[in-house]
Amino acid sequence: MVGEPELEPLVGPPPDEGPIDRSLLPFSATADPQGRLSVGGVDVLDLADEFGTPLFVYDEAHLRDRCRQAVAAWGDGVAYATKAFLCTAMARLAHEEGMCLDVSTGGEMHVALSAGVPADRLVLHGNNKSEEELAAAVAAGVGRVVIDSFDEIERLGRLLEGSTRGHGGRRTADQPLSVLVRVTPGVEAHTHEFVRTGQDDTKFGFGLASGAAKTALAAVRANPALEAVGLHAHIGSQVFLAESFAEESRILGRFLAPLRLPELCIGGGLGVPYVAGESAPSLAEWAAAVLQACREAGVPERTRITAEPGRAIVATAGMTLYRVGTIKELPGLRTYVSVDGGMSDNPRPVLYGSGYEAFLPRALDATRPRAVRVVGKHCESGDVVVPDARLPADLAVGDVLATPVTGAYGYSMASNYNKVPRPAVVFVTGGEARVVVRRETDEDLTRLDS
Ligand code: LLP
Repeated sequence: MVGEPELEPLVGPPPDEGPIDRSLLPFSATADPQGRLSVGGVDVLDLADEFGTPLFVYDEAHLRDRCRQAVAAWGDGVAYATKAFLCTAMARLAHEEGMCLDVSTGGEMHVALSAGVPADRLVLHGNNKSEEELAAAVAAGVGRVVIDSFDEIERLGRLLEGSTRGHGGRRTADQPLSVLVRVTPGVEAHTHEFVRTGQDDTKFGFGLASGAAKTALAAVRANPALEAVGLHAHIGSQVFLAESFAEESRILGRFLAPLRLPELCIGGGLGVPYVAGESAPSLAEWAAAVLQACREAGVPERTRITAEPGRAIVATAGMTLYRVGTIKELPGLRTYVSVDGGMSDNPRPVLYGSGYEAFLPRALDATRPRAVRVVGKHCESGDVVVPDARLPADLAVGDVLATPVTGAYGYSMASNYNKVPRPAVVFVTGGEARVVVRRETDEDLTRLDS
């Protein structure tokens, strides 16, 4: 056990005593006359009984709807940022709904390709792509590589020279690799500093202010094996202000306008509400703000302006179900409600001080007068799931407790800390549930050991 960590930075206003705000739930959430929650036409408590807890539950119709909204807002080329949540079923779903896929490692690329997503629908990111990752991308024929460093330009040059000589690559000399150059626009997005990426002091991309972006573009253009098709930038994640993206777009747009590049990708980062009272622009409002700013900056009509949302596609579609194991009341201090997961299935409260809400799926419309701290089962005090939760008065050991808006960066950042097996993931729709990622077993915990 470690000492008491600093819990002060945990943010978000404590939720009020009212029932959970239904706008935080997936679209298909309904309650029966007794207040029992169903998602996708499936009773949530039955899901907990059948598949166990902790359990990630995604509303498949919600996921599909968000993908469609993204394609409607941005047009062809908009990519789902798979780092937010990726498994075979999710890769297929995003592809079926017309999105490209943003993959930021060889591992994400592997999952997308093995799910059957055509390589030309993939965009490969990464500030430190290895030779193996680049070679795999070239061999598969990925649609776009986003160049992040001068070393990478050199590495790709060497690799493509090799592949045109018949070293296993599919490309030929007259088929240059399409690349975007990642630019750092010098924008400080209003979000947590760990997920802010657009400022000058960053490991990502080439700075505009320093002139590095211009030099990188010239280096790419000087290499016949590479074709610079556009610019890319990403200012950060969980950004609530459309104006931050508009500012980014104006800066990039002014740089791009004279360059005759056919594409501009402004990255991901659209925020989503996690607790009652927060609000974020819609996918359509986000796109409209960016398009308008690009036009103001002189970006020609024919330029394809696109984006790569992750969180905004999957966050609200997902929720986590836990089982309450103990309730500990410390008189005059607080009540701790321990659940059967924690920082291994949702490290965001620990990493970023992220706020969440909690509710009981058996009593969706119940008031929540009881102020508690929901904690996990891991061996440290920082293992907090919801720092300031409100729950119904009759909360009891054995209850299924849900945290909504856990569809993004929950499962994807899950770990086996304390050798806790990772939860299962189910997609629900039309009254059916299907397991898309099975629960890990104790055997899985030793399968890499020798
Ligand atoms: N494009 C690039 C180049 C990115 O780096 C990211 C996220 C995205 C798109 C998608 O951003 P989104 O739309 O999901 O905000 N683990 C953190 C978030 C890290 C985001 C990293 N990059 C969290 O849990 O809040």
